[in-house]
Amino acid sequence: MNTALIRKRLVIGNWKMHGTQVSNAMLLTGLCAGMAVVHDCDMAVCAPFPYLGQVAAALHGTGISWGAQDVSKHEQGAYTGEVAPAMLVDFGCKWVLVGHSERRALHGETDGLVAEKASAALKAGLAPVVCVGETQAQQQAGQTHEVIARQLAPVLALGAESVAKMVLAYEPVWAIGTGLTATPQQAQDVHAFIRAQLTELGVPQVRVLYGGSVKASNALSLFAMSDIDGALVGGASLVPEEFLRIAAA
Ligand code: 13P
Repeated sequence: MNTALIRKRLVIGNWKMHGTQVSNAMLLTGLCAGMAVVHDCDMAVCAPFPYLGQVAAALHGTGISWGAQDVSKHEQGAYTGEVAPAMLVDFGCKWVLVGHSERRALHGETDGLVAEKASAALKAGLAPVVCVGETQAQQQAGQTHEVIARQLAPVLALGAESVAKMVLAYEPVWAIGTGLTATPQQAQDVHAFIRAQLTELGVPQVRVLYGGSVKASNALSLFAMSDIDGALVGGASLVPEEFLRIAAA
């Protein structure tokens, strides 16, 4: 079976901590107005928590799905400031990013916690988008595969049935927001490494997105790689024409 044929492309915009109700409305209107140029590609946006209601209202019934950028590992309770998986479901979220490098680096999220969050998300019916990626120092030390394997291990340990419902995203930390992009071949090399682990687990069909300074101008060459199934887009997802051109690529 050639799983590349059954892995539908997926392009997710990660708005990070950007936006206002006014700017979001313009962005969402632009996406809805222009989405006819996109074929055979699932599109989604991951918005800050306070705007999920706005995003849900704007995107309901459009074919563009939405999600959040983080989630608690707890179901409910005395966890001030946390957001439960079921709350995201309540706002119609399909996706939630877990283990983004900014959360690992700035909020001390460990590989184990990332797996716990992914598991909690799955239990509530969300599809976790699990992010992995090495730093520049790790890349230069030739540790990329080792780091990715370590980050993935507790997630893959959740088992094939769970992992089958996830999406993975490879985001080299050195390429995020820096304008540096992994070359298509560099990215493909890591994606193939991740694919091999998924295949070993029996879930080769799981989509693996690339993230890190993806733009309309480099999307096509990245998507030409056999193990790159789409993109997790930061900065360029805040500009509707740019995001749509990436999804159209
Ligand atoms: P940029 O596309 O802005 O580099 O961000 C990538 C990213 O972190 C998406 O999650």
